Amino acid sequence: MGAPFLIALAAMALLSSLAIASDPSPLQDFCVAINDSKAAVFVNGKICKDPKVVTANDFFFQGFNIPGNTNNPVGSNVTRVLVNNLPGLNTFGISLARIDFAPYGVNTPHTHPRATEVIFAVEGTLAASFVTSNPPNNMKNRLFTKVLNPGDVFVFPQGLVHFIQNLGKTKALAFSGFSSQNPGVNTIANVVFGTEPPISLGVLTKAFQVDKKVIDALEAQFS
Ligand SMILES: *[C@@H]1O[C@H](CO)[C@@H](O)[C@H](O)[C@H]1NC(C)=O
Ligand SMILES: *[C@@H]1O[C@H](CO)[C@@H](O)[C@H](O)[C@H]1NC(C)=O
Repeated sequence: MGAPFLIALAAMALLSSLAIASDPSPLQDFCVAINDSKAAVFVNGKICKDPKVVTANDFFFQGFNIPGNTNNPVGSNVTRVLVNNLPGLNTFGISLARIDFAPYGVNTPHTHPRATEVIFAVEGTLAASFVTSNPPNNMKNRLFTKVLNPGDVFVFPQGLVHFIQNLGKTKALAFSGFSSQNPGVNTIANVVFGTEPPISLGVLTKAFQVDKKVIDALEAQFS
């Protein structure tokens, strides 16, 4: 083994340790987020509260036992505990959600640009699915689906389109953990058919290979 080989190995090790796919590691014990629009310095996250005035309540959230209201067109509701409502999460690369489902309700296809999600089924029977990103050579995107019963855990890889369907005629409940304090959500239907202003018909008729009337009908659902 020559020196150039060892240098290349060292460089690869350094690169892979730098290829962080989630939030950066914390640089202090904690950094409780504050809303300070006058803060002069932009940080990748939230400005830290002075540690001297931090209290236990900064690390505390209440009400996660309360179901979200699923009386809506999709029959599901996500209650999130992110850095915005639990400021002590700042810089820790983690957050939480509960997902309540009405009978046959759906947590519709979406992505989280900044997080992997691990879901824990607690009640009911759920089908959890995700789709791979575009494979090479015009192969089809692959759909993975698993039926989850209480006690089952499933993971949605970071950035991939995923969705969850309640297969049962009773309500269902799941909890999710995220590898980001602020995972972000792109709901496919909304980011395509519900933007302000709308994406041009020329783009959407080409993208979906349908008539303008079909796009008009879809956009009407999300306007
Ligand atoms: C920060 O501001 C947002 C938007 O005004 C508000 O919803 C949130 O409760 C605030 N968070 C804290 C910790 O004050
Ligand atoms: C989710 O539930 C909360 C709490 O009941 C409610 O305020 C909110 O409007 C619901 N969201 C949807 C999309 O139904």
